[in-house]
Amino acid sequence: MTPGATTRKRVLSGMRPTGKLHLGNFVGALQNWVGMQDQYECFFCVVDWHALTTDYADTSRVKENSLEVAFDWLAAGLDPEKCVLFFQSHVPEHAELHLLFSMITPLGWLERVPTYKEQRENIKDKDLGTYGFLGYPLLQAADILVYKADCVPVGEDQVAHVELTREIARRFNAFYGSGKPVFPEPQSLLTPAAKLPGTDGRKMSKSYGNTIMLADPEPVVRQKLKTMVTDPARVRRSDPGNPDLCPVGDLHKIFSSNETMAKVNDGCRTAGIGCIECKSWAADSLVRLLKPMQERRKKFEQNPRLAWDILEAGSQRARQAAGETMQDVRAAMHMSLDYEAPQGRAD
Ligand code: TRP
Ligand code: SF4
Repeated sequence: MTPGATTRKRVLSGMRPTGKLHLGNFVGALQNWVGMQDQYECFFCVVDWHALTTDYADTSRVKENSLEVAFDWLAAGLDPEKCVLFFQSHVPEHAELHLLFSMITPLGWLERVPTYKEQRENIKDKDLGTYGFLGYPLLQAADILVYKADCVPVGEDQVAHVELTREIARRFNAFYGSGKPVFPEPQSLLTPAAKLPGTDGRKMSKSYGNTIMLADPEPVVRQKLKTMVTDPARVRRSDPGNPDLCPVGDLHKIFSSNETMAKVNDGCRTAGIGCIECKSWAADSLVRLLKPMQERRKKFEQNPRLAWDILEAGSQRARQAAGETMQDVRAAMHMSLDYEAPQGRAD
């Protein structure tokens, strides 16, 4: 491990194995993670057990999807020399801590997690009335606390889970800490939510089928841009438009240089440029971003075992750290694995 690692604050975050990642995943999380590697001691986890909280009936793709996520992480520049990249299910300590947390967590705490009710109402195609689904924020708390993480980079939607994690840490410390807290109370590091529209103008999301994938080859990126929706006020080429009301304009704001942005702003508002030209510039910006990632990705696509081995080695390092925490946890609960003589006996 790099010198000074022990003095850096520790970060843990996780991503569900949804398969290939899209630009929304990059802007909403991955890009931010890449930028944290030097400053923090980072643990990044493919949370494959979390995938089962909603998709338990068919697990045939979990491993493949996890590997795809690993490809994209490595392609985006997460560096196994700088951070620990691993699979959740390879570190059984997460499950052990989750079990212990389940003993001390009042049901009401889980039932009032905002995502719980919302998803149970919205997702109709599968039965989410399971124990695992109710408990999944607790599994997330275990993911975080088994590393005694100080900071958790997440989007807005996950802040309530980190808040719950702090409540669990506090409750555990109150029961078992004997004046010396076992767990820190981790903070959310809110990822600034850039508004990233998909090709149909709605938020980019796998479930909407409007994504641009990090692994999309240049012609696919250009084709997707061509059919992307624009400012509805620009019906004809001669109509002026407004990049602030246009999904393509939003892409420019995130991915294009200031010069290009200036040309878009001026050209769109004066009808000096057409949408086709404007979109080709947006495609240029995306291709410039994605090219180096796709270069790095090739190596892993050609030899998936390389990526597997990197995450497998990361999982060993994660187990080491998680194992240290579990020793503290068991000791605090008077359940260490060491022999202790029954009271009143000297042996
Ligand atoms: N629940 C998170 C999500 O759906 C993923 C996740 C699991 C996570 N464990 C975590 C995020 C720990 C941060 C820290 O996006
Ligand atoms: Fe959108 Fe560009 Fe067309 Fe303006 S010129 S409406 S920003 S695509």
